[in-house]
Amino acid sequence: MNAVSQSASPPIESMPKPAMLDVESIRRDFPILQRKVHGKPLIWLDSAATAQKPQAVIDRVSRFYEHENSNVHRGTHTLAEEACDACERARTRVAAFLGAFSMLEIVFVRGTTEGLNLLAAIFSESLLRPGDEIVLTAAEHHANIVPWQFAAKKTGAVIRVAPVDDNGDIILEEYEHLLGPRTRVVSITHISNVLGTVMPIREMTALAKRHGATVVIDGAQGVPHRRVDVQEIGCDFYVFSGHKLFAPMGIGAVYGRMEMWEQMPPWQGGGNMVEQVTFENSTFAPPPKRFEAGTPALAPAVGLGAAIDYLNGIGLDAIEQYETALLDYALEGIRSVNGLRLIGQPRDRGGVISFVMDGIPDMEVARVLDAEGIAVRAGTHCAQPILARFGLESTVRPSFAFYNTRAEADMLVDALRRIGCRR
Ligand code: ALA
Repeated sequence: MNAVSQSASPPIESMPKPAMLDVESIRRDFPILQRKVHGKPLIWLDSAATAQKPQAVIDRVSRFYEHENSNVHRGTHTLAEEACDACERARTRVAAFLGAFSMLEIVFVRGTTEGLNLLAAIFSESLLRPGDEIVLTAAEHHANIVPWQFAAKKTGAVIRVAPVDDNGDIILEEYEHLLGPRTRVVSITHISNVLGTVMPIREMTALAKRHGATVVIDGAQGVPHRRVDVQEIGCDFYVFSGHKLFAPMGIGAVYGRMEMWEQMPPWQGGGNMVEQVTFENSTFAPPPKRFEAGTPALAPAVGLGAAIDYLNGIGLDAIEQYETALLDYALEGIRSVNGLRLIGQPRDRGGVISFVMDGIPDMEVARVLDAEGIAVRAGTHCAQPILARFGLESTVRPSFAFYNTRAEADMLVDALRRIGCRR
């Protein structure tokens, strides 16, 4: 990154130095980070919406189409074998990445939204009854609200919402208070896409398990920033999107404990998920195939495997350490901007920072930043209820990944100061 040394922000010497992570070399792995926007070097602070892709992922997807492309009808010909093998290797990588017991516990879906819809739809058939309770937190994005509303309408179940405090941290006593014999499903975000709150998912899962609830973790913002071990968390399901994990769009995964999957009826019907079909009846394949109707997104799945290899090469613990120091640094600068109000000051933060600026519409802030080459998201972030909790309809949200630098944070802060001076 070159566009930074003229920054007006003084370096904050007291801040801890980031972990030893060769960011300059990492940045060279991401071709898009070399491009310019409005004549300025791109500063990508929108990774919570979608992360950029390293060359290794781009190359792997190209190689799939150049050498292996086939549909999955194993045994018919060489390319079909190779395509199947590539997809199953990717499934193995996802399983290991999440700490799953078996690759058969991983169901490929289009992304977090589809994964949560799959679970909510199947639970509507097989688990939820009138009067059952579905517990969410106030910090959920729409993908972890609307599918449960469908399920509640269909079954007569009721949604209960665990509140967050003014910092954006879950109020654990109130969450615990909501749990009881009627709690059938608890579905909670790992990291809030608006506040950055890292939820205490282990503790929350353990509390829900005391009441025998099925626990779903929405890991859309979790996997890019924290090492995940589903055994350690103790959850039944963990759902995430590939495109936020430096992989292609159109692929994601649902981890589920095998004994859960085994009891679950299929969701979508079609090829690939069946054993025998007659016009009268069908029998279904065992998991994970039972939940993967139709042609899978093979090339994106293979790309997801490559993204996981790439991340493992850096190390999730090193990524977390680096990003935590970077976020602390960025926060220090952002806090110093006059007329800027941070939304949410959680104890443990991952990836995102939200704020509003007095008298300047959020979209205007984003537009001015864009003119400087700085990409941030402004708007509702597909999470209107948590914004309403803070009396807002939108925020400005820079979001960070391990390819971002302190120099970029300085550029953001300088630009925000200039925007503040326009008032
Ligand atoms: N849920 C994504 C975001 O937070 C799209 O931007």
